[in-house]
This record gives sequence, C-alpha cells and structure tokens, in this order.
Amino acid sequence: MKTIGVLTSGGDAPGMNAALRAVVRTGIYNDVRMMGIKCGYDGLINGDIDDMTLSSVADIIHRGGTVLKTARSDEFVTKDGFNRALNIIDVFNLDGLVVLGGDGTFKGAKSLADAGIPVIGIPCTIDNDLAYTDYTIGFFTAVETVVEAIGKIRDTSSSHGRANVIEVMGRNCGDIALYSGLAGGAESIIVPEIEYDIDQICEKVIRGRNRNKLHHIIIVAEGVGNPYSIAQEVEEKTNIETKVTVLGYLQRGGTPNTLDRIMGSEMGKSAVELLLEGKSARLVGVKCNDIFDIDIDEALKMRRTFDKGMYNTANILSL
Ligand code: F6P
Repeated sequence: MKTIGVLTSGGDAPGMNAALRAVVRTGIYNDVRMMGIKCGYDGLINGDIDDMTLSSVADIIHRGGTVLKTARSDEFVTKDGFNRALNIIDVFNLDGLVVLGGDGTFKGAKSLADAGIPVIGIPCTIDNDLAYTDYTIGFFTAVETVVEAIGKIRDTSSSHGRANVIEVMGRNCGDIALYSGLAGGAESIIVPEIEYDIDQICEKVIRGRNRNKLHHIIIVAEGVGNPYSIAQEVEEKTNIETKVTVLGYLQRGGTPNTLDRIMGSEMGKSAVELLLEGKSARLVGVKCNDIFDIDIDEALKMRRTFDKGMYNTANILSL
C-alpha cells in the first residue's frame, strides 16, 4: 500500500481533526504517501485531492469541524458520480481509503469496497447513532456543550420561575437528549425511541413547583416533534410560562474534549494499520473501552438499541 486517501463526510463532529491527524501521521510513519480528499465524496468525484504532510495536520488536534471540509454528496450515489469517483481513485493511484463519518458515509464506503477498493471507516458523528459501536467521535463533546447550555438556561429558568423546553440534535437518536438530560439534571427527557405522555410531564412540573422548585428543564430530541407545540401544551396545562431554546448547530462545533481527541487518535491510527495489514471493508469502533473492527456489511445491518436503563435512572432521579 503506497498511497492512502482520506476524507471526512457527512456532518462534522468535534474530534474529526484529531482522527484525521492520526490517520495522516500513522501513514507517514509507515512510509505511505497520504492524500487528503476535500469535501467528502464530492472531492473524490471532482479530483479535489492534495498531498498531506506532517505539517498539514499540525495544530489541529484541538480544533472542531474538519480541515478537509465535508459534504453530504448527492452525486456520489448516482451511477455516473460513483464511476467518476472510481476513475479518480485510479488516476491518483489511491491504493486504499480511510473515510471519517457516520451512517451515510459508511454506505458510500461499502459501495467502494464492493467495487474492490480497500476502505476502512472511522465513526464520527455527534448523534452516537451507530449500532455497532458504543461510542462515536464527537458525541461526548456535543453532550458537554448541551450540559453547559442547560446550566445557563437553568439560571434564567430559576430567576424567572419558568419552564424551558430545550431541543437538542440527534436526528432519530435520543442519545444526546438522554445523556445531557441525565448529566444536566433535566426534569423530563423526550426522545424518539420512547413514547411520551405530556400529562405526566406537566404533573412533574407542578409537583416541582409545589415544593418551591423554580426551574423546569424539558429536553426534547429533534425528531420527536415541534418543541414549540410541546411548550405551548406545558404552558396551557401548568399555567407556568414556558420558553423554547433550539440549540441547533452550536452542538456540532467547538473544541473536542479529551475523550474525543484520544479516541480520534487511537481509531485514526488503527484504521491505517488495518489497511496496511491488507484488511478492507471494515469499520473501527469501541466495545467495552476497547478499539475493535467489524465488517461494514455486518455493522450496517445492526439495529441500535436505546439505553432504557439510563432513561429509567434519569426518570427516577428527576422525581
Ligand atoms: O451531525 C448529525 C446532525 O447534527 C443531526 O443531528 C442533524 O439532524 C443533522 O446532522 C443536520 O445536519 P445538516 O443540516 O448539516 O445536514
């Protein structure tokens, strides 16, 4: 394996740069020519590819986003776009690829692997929505960002005696809501995986108010429904003023925490080593604190299970 290409694709996640740095430096350490593909699969289609050196990944371990830029490529899923990407891989003599991203990125990686291209994937998404791995790079940084926001909103909530609905990201996965809700001491957590009862949520707000609690934080994962309608219902049923904050994209950026930097570094190194061992069509991940790798097909077929135990803990502790 003389030349390896690397790309970041899908939503950016804090820790992606740490993983990218590890990929590039592990390759160079092993005398491999490393090439950076810009803007995800779009860069592979357009040949937007440059050599990467030790210094092109200097000073990035602590930066959010991705210095390679990213995209959700519509063209790559077309036959023409895919064939152009295969041609560029040939033109640039790329012997293998490392792709950093989530579910969509890995579906693309699987198509490349099926076409005979050696490819390894590294899980990077704040959503933590990949079934095969306990952890995805970026998740815990995003959770910390949300927990910090909950703390700030709680100050205002207590000062005004209001209820606050906070919408967090996660598409169809309630993990950001669950983890940040538990860590932030939220009164209620609403996730797509579990049906919610607005009357129970309102009863909890009223019970809290009756024992002089002045803040009421309700975390809602996007994908559940309109947070403004939920807030309106809470306000109507409790007679307590209820405000909405949609945290949106501020959850995706920011400096990665220590865990995301360390796991990014370990998984980045591991991905390149797998290619050098002649492996392909595999994803790296974390199970019980160990880095492991798994066949892409198998990983993509797995269905994620929601942590009902943690959800139950959060419910009990927010009585
Ligand atoms: O990165 C994951 C995620 O943040 C989802 O939670 C969200 O639905 C989606 O990305 C939105 O991202 P974009 O607008 O960039 O497609």
